[in-house]
Amino acid sequence: MEMVDQPHVVMISVLLQGHVKPLLCLAELLSEAGLFVTFVNTHHNHKRFSNLPEITNNLPNLHFVSISDGLPDDHPRDSFDLEYFFGINSATKPYFKELILSYLRDNSGDAPLQPRVSCIIADGVFSFPIDVAEELEIPIFSFIAHSARYLWEYFTIPKLIHGVDDHDHHLLPSDAMPGFELGRNDLPGFNMETLNSPVVQFLVGESLAMTRTSGLILNTIDDLEASCLPYITHHFRKLYTVGPLHVLLNSRVGDRSQLMASHGSFWKSDQNCMTWLDSQPSRSVLYVSFGSVVKTSCSNLLEFWHGLVDSGRPFLWVLRRDVISDGKESNGEIYEELQKGPKERVCIVEWAPQEQVLGHSAIGGFLTHCGWNSILENIVARVPMICWPNWGDQSINSECVVKLWKFGVELDAKDRSSIEKTINTLMGHQREELQLGVDRIAKRLEDGIHEGGSSYNNVEMLVGDLRKMKL
Ligand code: UDX
Repeated sequence: MEMVDQPHVVMISVLLQGHVKPLLCLAELLSEAGLFVTFVNTHHNHKRFSNLPEITNNLPNLHFVSISDGLPDDHPRDSFDLEYFFGINSATKPYFKELILSYLRDNSGDAPLQPRVSCIIADGVFSFPIDVAEELEIPIFSFIAHSARYLWEYFTIPKLIHGVDDHDHHLLPSDAMPGFELGRNDLPGFNMETLNSPVVQFLVGESLAMTRTSGLILNTIDDLEASCLPYITHHFRKLYTVGPLHVLLNSRVGDRSQLMASHGSFWKSDQNCMTWLDSQPSRSVLYVSFGSVVKTSCSNLLEFWHGLVDSGRPFLWVLRRDVISDGKESNGEIYEELQKGPKERVCIVEWAPQEQVLGHSAIGGFLTHCGWNSILENIVARVPMICWPNWGDQSINSECVVKLWKFGVELDAKDRSSIEKTINTLMGHQREELQLGVDRIAKRLEDGIHEGGSSYNNVEMLVGDLRKMKL
């Protein structure tokens, strides 16, 4: 009976691996703290969770449900255009509303025993949960899976388009991107054409919608974004910087951390690469991963392959089955070609246990697409980086790594020779300098997660605020 008096937090993320994973880490942290948490997936994502039973067996306060996103089962869900974003935002809303209504109904009779929903935490990419929360008068917090700086780009875009505060046509408004001095065409990841595109305008609208919530939760850390956070704070009722969530969670679940390390992975990790890493010399291996969604052409992939082989370094490469963007070569031929490498220094897997890989002593560098989770996991593991940003927040993340935090080099992947040269720069003469850079940033990050640090305190504050919200 005690359970029905618990605060009940409903959390929802409908998009990518890189969004679901940090939100699930937060869900696990909140349920560890004694809150009753329901994690809502789309049916599509729910089917892909590879370790759901382990999570549910270990956390009795954490429950999973799934709802439709309104798209047909066989929809690829990888176009990221306006039709896709707009479709999900409107089609998922009625299913989510129905679910929340079911949690508000009287629990008497045969209905399963569960507390009334007291608040919602929703991935801020879509605004439909905010609409539902307002219609049903339930408090809601937004969560973002990327950095504060990237969010601030979306707050800046309307000013750029309308020219507000823009006295100098060569510069961004002075508060546009704290920490950088940029020309007006240099907002990382955007240019004047894309600023006006329907998708960007949609995302601007969704970002601004978050200001209607009770607060914003960010998987980031104060010290790394100090120049930007004051601008954002101004727009929100409350701000909780609680990152990196995977580290906070691992430190709180103690000896269960290995089990939890692959929080909500959509693919099963190939553990063979860990055995292979054991056989490699310390700091010798380049880890290469483009995350869960980046795709590239078959010819570009072959340039990567030759650049990697020509570098003479051992490498571990994550090649998802769906990584090739252009057509039928994706069906195995290219993988056969890639298997013909110098076997002793090449390991290729379809999905790796990334946190474990980065923490392995054989890893000396990380060639990455610069997703925010990869950046945070990499700082924790103290590995110098090669940045190959593709879209979205990856450009601003790369700018930070290369120019502000100085623990990485940018890759111009135009051909095999530039790829090979950049690898040898990272693994060769610039290694020590970049290692010092990442050690410096890691120390700042660690200060924030220990007891008394900013992220540690903000998790406590969030838990306290959520407890007070019992309806
Ligand atoms: C997406 C966006 O692309 C990214 O720009 C944004 O910051 C977050 O959402 P994704 O591309 O998947 O994310 O990249 P990233 O943020 O790095 O997240 C990938 C996650 O998958 C990481 O937590 C990583 O540990 C995990 N991963 C990746 C594995 O567990 N195994 C792998 O082989 C590769």
